[in-house]
Amino acid sequence: MPQATYNFPAGFLWGSATAAHQVEGGNANNNWSAWEAQPGRILNGDRSNLACDWWSGRWSEDFDRAAETHQNAHRMSIEWSRIQPRPDRWDEDALDHYREMIRGMLARGLTPMITLHHFTDPLWFSELGGWEQENAPELFEKFAAHVVEALKEYVTLWVTINEPNVYVVSGYMGTDFPPGKSDAQAAFAVMRNLIRGHAAVYKTIKRIQKNSAIGIALNYRSLKPASAASPIDRALAKFAHNSFNESFLRTLKTGQLRFSTQRAGIPEAIGTQDFVGVNYYTRDLVQFSPLAFRDFFMKRFFPKDAALSQSGFIANVPEGMFESLKWANAFGLPIYITENGVEDAADDLRPRYLIEHLHQVWRAINFNYPIKGYFHWSLVDNFEWERGWSQRFGLWGLDVVTQARIRRPSVDLFAEICKQNAISSDLVQRYAPESFNLLFPVN
Ligand code: GAL
Repeated sequence: MPQATYNFPAGFLWGSATAAHQVEGGNANNNWSAWEAQPGRILNGDRSNLACDWWSGRWSEDFDRAAETHQNAHRMSIEWSRIQPRPDRWDEDALDHYREMIRGMLARGLTPMITLHHFTDPLWFSELGGWEQENAPELFEKFAAHVVEALKEYVTLWVTINEPNVYVVSGYMGTDFPPGKSDAQAAFAVMRNLIRGHAAVYKTIKRIQKNSAIGIALNYRSLKPASAASPIDRALAKFAHNSFNESFLRTLKTGQLRFSTQRAGIPEAIGTQDFVGVNYYTRDLVQFSPLAFRDFFMKRFFPKDAALSQSGFIANVPEGMFESLKWANAFGLPIYITENGVEDAADDLRPRYLIEHLHQVWRAINFNYPIKGYFHWSLVDNFEWERGWSQRFGLWGLDVVTQARIRRPSVDLFAEICKQNAISSDLVQRYAPESFNLLFPVN
């Protein structure tokens, strides 16, 4: 049996990612709490409730877990509605709380990457019209300035906005996220304002902190034609790719937003990115269907031969990870994988998914793509938005009733990779023998 090791570069960041609303619990002042309270919005009527109980202090034991298992970084977000519960009120205690958490990370050797917007908005902001309103970027910038001033001593790696593309598609083209509007005009206005907000915050952070590195965590969905021979499938896949994957980051290069069939100039966005953050989970095949008139005549489905996650939400397509990194590399900036993972309570697919995706990361590094770190989604099972508690993305499982953490085998798998800064054949043999031939072929 071949013996070999895939080594990662010195100084590589190995961590996990979380988001405030999904782990903190007791967030009463944001649009998601209100959304959860509406009947029929969340699968099984689930509520985030205590979530992982981080706000009462359980962040500390979870950061212990991360550090003890050799992670050296953590990505988390700051909840805007806690810092600014009302337009005229800044909660300094909440800021102290985040300061304590981030100091807690540093004390454990975890480099913080801090996200300023991860899907949730303060209720007052939503009631004013959310990201549709023209002055949304200024309101977001005020909040960000406040946070960055308070945390600049501890943090230099910032994500302004998490998955603006998912935020727009799920909340303004579909109805999974609040406000649940299917309105193309509103979707475009929100996209434009998110980009303006990002650009404003980028400039503010740079003014406060010269040595900062600022990016966006973009959800990259691999979108391929179902039939490579079909010009219409190819055209639709390209259209979907351009709208979903390209539009936001391309605007930061060109100053021209092209989203779906709409256009707008945002010249102030040019050059407002220091790294590319990629959230990669899966691939869809795109096929022309005359019945799918609501979805630009596009039917999407997973490749037939790909293993599916527990609820069928994710297909294991590791080549899509390489594709996303190749795409990110074209921006000529450092790259972080800001999220990647799979829902799998039984931890059946996760070891294989993790190893095969990291193998693709290693391949991309060997093409000299400047990849600086990998954040696994997620550290502990957490509240998965409209899917509630039905999906379990944690390295650690969570018993929502008792708050007990459950150590899945992937905890130890990931710990060994982080510790060795490498994937060895021995490790693959022990944790995912089914991946062995793929990573270490004999011929
Ligand atoms: C991403 C999102 C995360 C998490 C993950 C898994 O789209 O940024 O918050 O929910 O998907 O569903």
